Amino acid sequence: MDIGIIGGGIAGQSAAFRLAAANHKVTIYDPSPATGASLAAAGMLAPASEVNFSEVPLLRLMQHSNDLWPDFVRQIESVSGVSIGLRMDGTLILGYEPNDARDLERLAEFQRELGIEVTRLTHRQVKELEPELGGPFPFAAMISTDNQLDNRQLMHSLEVALDQLGVKIVHKSVSSLALKGGNYEIVLDDHPTPRHDIVLLAAGSQVGSITGLPTAISGAIRPVKGQIIRVQAQSNTLLNRVVRSKTYGKTLYMVPRTSGEIVIGATQEEVGFDTTAKVRPIAEMLTNAALLLPGLGEADFKEQLVRFRPGSIDNAPIVGQYCNSNLFLCLGHFRHGILLSAALSKYVAESIQSGKQPSEIEGFGAARLEAN
Ligand code: GLY
Repeated sequence: MDIGIIGGGIAGQSAAFRLAAANHKVTIYDPSPATGASLAAAGMLAPASEVNFSEVPLLRLMQHSNDLWPDFVRQIESVSGVSIGLRMDGTLILGYEPNDARDLERLAEFQRELGIEVTRLTHRQVKELEPELGGPFPFAAMISTDNQLDNRQLMHSLEVALDQLGVKIVHKSVSSLALKGGNYEIVLDDHPTPRHDIVLLAAGSQVGSITGLPTAISGAIRPVKGQIIRVQAQSNTLLNRVVRSKTYGKTLYMVPRTSGEIVIGATQEEVGFDTTAKVRPIAEMLTNAALLLPGLGEADFKEQLVRFRPGSIDNAPIVGQYCNSNLFLCLGHFRHGILLSAALSKYVAESIQSGKQPSEIEGFGAARLEAN
């Protein structure tokens, strides 16, 4: 089949990889691939620590995707020859003061009820794993199934792999979709309309800017602002694994890379496409990070980014065929773009090839939109 993909972030590129590896002809449309949420992401593969109290089916999908990642990494790396930086060091969860500890204990109880292993640690055990952390922490636990990859290495590896597989990248915005003879067609400004058998919409938070889409789709995705920071530590032993914490009620994560870079994040704000970087959340994140990891004060400030998570009507992904048409969706990854992409790329590719909704994404189909 000839497949046109709108969006060159992780959703579009991972689906392109699966489809091109299965010998389909694939074209991606994106004026600036991998510069949105995929660039800002921290790369956490964290189904357990990102779980919310009411989202158990989503947790199961996230856990399944987490299980698929090591093999997906091998597949991409074997085509590209470029490392993705998958690390299986687990995630340390810390509560800074007694109220934080109480919240995290409640969450740990819920996680255990769902079969997640949350191992409490003593202060001594924390110091053995992470000598540079401050503390003591009234709550400390390890979740060994939550890990990380380097999202920027991933996107570079995918770019090289897609090139090897013959995927064409068109650096243009798709201004609209036209419905002709029951089929959706991509429309580019000042350009002949390309013909594709299938159109896959994977445009992240930008879906609303494409005209001609059914309003059920364009209205289903909202931008959720995140501010995220990158600092460069003097050594890569300042932090050895992902740390997630609650400090005076504020959540924080720190994700160390082998280069010594530490990604610190992130705010979550429902303010539309407001691209301004605000001092208060950045100051708060850095202050809390330095409370946990005092040596962070000596790191170099590298970068702050504002980007937008694609949140859906129910904060769960929307994946599969739209109304028996040639339009397929891979949308609404919200906080879990990197994590979910191993599974969503696999199952959206399967649904394109079979015309059926795979059972693994049964509850996450576009029928939720059709009903609205
Ligand atoms: N998954 C981390 C975030 O969205 O900030």
